[in-house]
Amino acid sequence: MKGKTVLITGANTGIGYETAKDLLQRDARVIMACRNLNRGQQASNQLVSETGCNENNIRLMECDLCSLDSVRAFAKLYNEEEERLDVLICNAGLSWASPMVTTDGFNSIIQANYLGHFLLTYLLLDKLRKYRRSRVINVSSKLHNKIKSINWLDVFTQSRTLPWFGAYPSSKLFQILSTVKLRQQLYGNEGIDVFTLTPGWVSTSLSNPTPQAIGWFGFIFCYPLVRFLKFFMAKTPKTGASTVIFCAVEPSLEQSEDLYFQNCKAVKPSSLAINQLSADRLWKLSRTAVELQ
Ligand SMILES: NC(=O)c1ccc[n+]([C@@H]2O[C@H](COP(=O)([O-])OP(=O)(O)OC[C@H]3O[C@@H](n4cnc5c(N)ncnc54)[C@H](OP(=O)(O)O)[C@@H]3O)[C@@H](O)[C@H]2O)c1
Repeated sequence: MKGKTVLITGANTGIGYETAKDLLQRDARVIMACRNLNRGQQASNQLVSETGCNENNIRLMECDLCSLDSVRAFAKLYNEEEERLDVLICNAGLSWASPMVTTDGFNSIIQANYLGHFLLTYLLLDKLRKYRRSRVINVSSKLHNKIKSINWLDVFTQSRTLPWFGAYPSSKLFQILSTVKLRQQLYGNEGIDVFTLTPGWVSTSLSNPTPQAIGWFGFIFCYPLVRFLKFFMAKTPKTGASTVIFCAVEPSLEQSEDLYFQNCKAVKPSSLAINQLSADRLWKLSRTAVELQ
């Protein structure tokens, strides 16, 4: 990865942090896009001390995926100041949010996980084209298969669902559908490979709910059980990052037809996640939502 630049959203913790660490150890330049610069700076310092990397190989930039203005400002700065983009890893994720509606008027989980990344990817396409072959990797989840149909009237607001029953799995489904469509849009001579994946169940702060999100009953009686199971059954963040790293660096994936990965192997997502009509409709609605012409 020497000489290559990798952009990772949400790289200050969990799977994103472990991915950044591995890629720095492979001599890549890593750009960390974080919503909180204090947390990002702490992580960046820790990455430098843990990997012994050259400080010029790591850059922290502010990007709040829950704000379209922030994503646009980030992309503008990136396009002006960074020479190249070889791998874009859309990793940042939100499962519980307060407030639930963003200033742009969308469900926070849908905007952080899907719409923000959708806009970011679009705004960075020229940079990705510049030094091809390049890659886009969307970190989705197996939970996408919980969604059996899409409520198109409530698609980005999800006002009728609870995070873990609708908004979160929907956002992960949308990431796969948009991966399908982006591949088709780029088909031909663009030289950009696009993949999506599930890291599996990983012990990070992602599934730590707040009492406000699940109610005090759930927080006191159900959440300890989840923590207990997580302790014994979930992957470590380092193991959880392995499929992300595989999709970022594996040479045999160049021009691969494989779409969705789990445990470093191509597997099939749900049939809805590759439904062409849904991919087309979501793409159109997403462009309108983020105000692309
Ligand atoms: N953990 C699992 O079991 C699991 C399973 C399947 C898929 N995944 C996926 O794996 C990815 C990484 O998750 P993780 O488990 O590593 O979770 P994590 O440790 O909670 O990390 C999530 C990262 O996303 C960032 N983030 C959240 N909202 C953001 C926003 N609006 N703008 C910018 N950054 C934002 C967080 O920043 P802050 O630190 O500032 O909050 C954090 O850096 C996610 O896409 C998740 O859906 C995880």
